[in-house]
Amino acid sequence: MSQLEELKKRKTFGIVAHPDAGKTTLTEKLLLFGGAIQEAGAVKSNKIRKHATSDFMEIERQRGISVATSVMAFDYRGKKINILDTPGHKDFAEDTYRTLTAVDSVIVVIDVAKGVEEQTEKLVEVCRMRNTPIIVFINKLDREGKDAFDLLDEVETKLGLHVTPLSWPVGMGQRFKGVYSLYEKNLILFSPHGKQDDEDIFKISDLDESLLDSKVGHAEADTLRDEIHTIVSVYPEFSREDYLNGAICPVFFGSAVNNFGVRELLDCFVDIAPQPLPRVTEERIVKPVEEKFSGFIFKIHANMDPKHRDRIAFLRVCSGTFERNKSYYHVRQEKNMKFPNPTAFMAAKKSVVDEAYPGDIVGLYDSGNFKIGDSLSEGEVLHFKGIPSFSPELFRFVNNTDPMKTKQLNKGLDQLMDEGVAQLFTKEDNGRKIIGTVGSLQFDVIQYRLKQEYGASCDYEPVHLYKACWISSKNPVALKEIVSRRKKDIARDTDDRLVFLAESAWTLQMAQENHPEVEFHFTSEF
Ligand code: G4P
Repeated sequence: MSQLEELKKRKTFGIVAHPDAGKTTLTEKLLLFGGAIQEAGAVKSNKIRKHATSDFMEIERQRGISVATSVMAFDYRGKKINILDTPGHKDFAEDTYRTLTAVDSVIVVIDVAKGVEEQTEKLVEVCRMRNTPIIVFINKLDREGKDAFDLLDEVETKLGLHVTPLSWPVGMGQRFKGVYSLYEKNLILFSPHGKQDDEDIFKISDLDESLLDSKVGHAEADTLRDEIHTIVSVYPEFSREDYLNGAICPVFFGSAVNNFGVRELLDCFVDIAPQPLPRVTEERIVKPVEEKFSGFIFKIHANMDPKHRDRIAFLRVCSGTFERNKSYYHVRQEKNMKFPNPTAFMAAKKSVVDEAYPGDIVGLYDSGNFKIGDSLSEGEVLHFKGIPSFSPELFRFVNNTDPMKTKQLNKGLDQLMDEGVAQLFTKEDNGRKIIGTVGSLQFDVIQYRLKQEYGASCDYEPVHLYKACWISSKNPVALKEIVSRRKKDIARDTDDRLVFLAESAWTLQMAQENHPEVEFHFTSEF
């Protein structure tokens, strides 16, 4: 099959949800449809359980699971579908942001009772900024929840999305009868526990048909008629083009645990979701159809076994064909590398691949050569955009508590930073190291993993900081001036870039006013 045919088959997406909305359950049902797994329960939830014995042990458990669930691929109706896992926990939001750079579309899962929750708002904001096509799945219709119209309003106001329902519930909770598919023009009757089969689906092109009344009852049928009438007059007609531009989001209703409404979601997804999309680099736009291979690393996963220090770097193929054992150019390190054992992921199984195409995710064994955001190409210098580090909000000094293990500590810290666990800043005035994170769990993770994997010990000391922002200026004199005048507030990140450590919002504002020629950046990409 040609590269063009291969890439046309691919659909790479992520599921975004607040913890507990049903992401794992939905993923599992999708994999069941694709035949990638045979039984329920095969996909382990990677969420951090609230009442875990200790947070970092829970993270280790989760880390073990997340290698297997990072990418789950399956075939369905002639398409190759790649699902990329996104952690729902807020402390791992950065991981999720980075993973979202590697997808071409997103399914947002919302709990019918809880509506739009905080974590979803943040993640969808990132998708919206990039105009990522979004499908919304409202889950748990077998339970009492919010009114369907109110939910659509919530999605529009809180997520800033324009919606159009492609399925509509008949009742809810105890009175849940099923959904009417505006996309396929049929009625699908609900039966709990995934027993739905073709006998429960009725073609109803005209809602006035009496078949509707006989299947759901007169009162319910009339309510449905009224509601569909409102939908048709209030919401825009679905257009694939608008969906692909991120201008409109189709909405589906269902119950993942009952495997209800999932097939309709998947069938529509397969019809409308985009094939691999172009990617923006600092140099130019890279199109998937280009002959030459290029790709970037969006995630690095350390080996769980301390005896094997190698890691898996996850590469998104952006153009051309990636081939096993072919020499590729590592842009940052300016050297060529070959990969004898690149792996692909089919549900929980890994296997060595000879070739991969745009949209595919390949796992590369790495002995410390990669950082998140690195590019590989056939020689061209490309820097893929959209993989920033965010200005962290929690800070601690890190102290070495075992001077005999200084080397191990530094190496461990460097490698954990490459993985994107946190950010490390070294102060210009005294060389002290400060770790900055987005969530507090990361501090436990770092301490625990340094001990387990590198035999190094550290403790933390509080440091009073409000924000760390990258600074730059077109005028080298202005930059020099801020560095010398504010020496105690200046640090360098692991790429040797200058960072301003602001103690408070006020100090930051003052620094901005006093140094008008200096730009302060809140993400590392500027
Ligand atoms: P997450 O990955 O988004 O965090 O959510 P997950 O799929 O783990 O689902 C969270 C809980 O919601 C699970 O229950 C799951 O069974 C339940 N759930 C998912 N879909 C539906 C649905 O359509 N209807 C109802 N009623 N429940 C649903 P749990 O008790 O936390 O876990 P478990 O013991 O059932 O696995």
